[in-house]
Amino acid sequence: MDIKEQLETIESEARKLFDSVKDREALEKLRVKYLGKKGKIADIFSQMGKVDSDERPVIGRKTNELKNLIAELHQEKKSELEELLKARKMKREEIDITLPGIKPEMGYTHPLSVIINEVKQLFIGLGFSIAEGPEIESEYYNFEALNIPEHHPARDLQDTLYIDDQFLLRTHTSPVQIRTMEDKNPPIRIIAPGRVYRSDELDASHSPVFHQIEGLVVDKDISFSDLKGTIQVFVEEMYGADREIRFRPSYFPFTEPSAEVDVSCIVCEGKGCSLCSGTGWLEVMGSGMVHPNVLEMSGLDSRVYSGFAFGMGWDRIAMLKYGIDDIRVLFENDLRFLRQF
Ligand code: DAH
Repeated sequence: MDIKEQLETIESEARKLFDSVKDREALEKLRVKYLGKKGKIADIFSQMGKVDSDERPVIGRKTNELKNLIAELHQEKKSELEELLKARKMKREEIDITLPGIKPEMGYTHPLSVIINEVKQLFIGLGFSIAEGPEIESEYYNFEALNIPEHHPARDLQDTLYIDDQFLLRTHTSPVQIRTMEDKNPPIRIIAPGRVYRSDELDASHSPVFHQIEGLVVDKDISFSDLKGTIQVFVEEMYGADREIRFRPSYFPFTEPSAEVDVSCIVCEGKGCSLCSGTGWLEVMGSGMVHPNVLEMSGLDSRVYSGFAFGMGWDRIAMLKYGIDDIRVLFENDLRFLRQF
């Protein structure tokens, strides 16, 4: 084969091979095969001595042209393969926005939180604000300032969880009344929800930790009818507009007069059933006019100011509203229970 024929064969073969090469390694091998130091083009140049001197410039030019052509074929293929690789990578990383998302698991509102949110909304609407007090209280705030005498059974170790001879776990939210009156001047309108403690054995209706919601209103000219009106609004909102309300005379050391508030039973509507022990009434809170001694001990002049207070079981509201018959489920955090709210 003369050189011209060789050049033609190399060209047609190279076109085919570069066209069909599939990966970068094979491409590199092809490059070496044609353009390498010992490649086909170098081989042609080494034969140049044998070519007639008048033909040599033409052959030389043709060889250079073929060399450039092969270099171009190589470059083109190289870019093509790189593009292909990029496209494959893109395909792998592609995000399919039509796929359904992963749903985050939603939490549930604890029934006590559902209740307190409703109660807060209601009282805020009536112009009340929310107050708080410590769960570890002194004997003074928990008993003495609330006019609870030294030998009152509530002060007994049997009922109260003492920390030492001065501090205890508050047995009710009533000490927040005292702290509020010491802190603020009337008019005062607060509710104070919180945790309270008593040394009770745990059973379906008792827990050593439970919750209360305290209320206090103090101003000039506050009367028992203000107490009745406020309770009426509360009961209608929380237990339904068709509930009957009864104020039953009672006794609390920190109120005078005192009254227990009953609502007609939400199950039997007053006929008598097991929930209301056959009485037709459910006891929902204690209340009364703030005792003058309590006002005075908190630094308020009882000839100028008067007030009313009330205290209720927050757990009990949840139990009545949701038909829960065991207080323990409110504290156990069993998801099978909590998921229902
Ligand atoms: N502190 C009382 C208790 O734990 C409840 C109570 C009764 C609170 C009458 C009051 C009230 O504010 O006026 O049993």
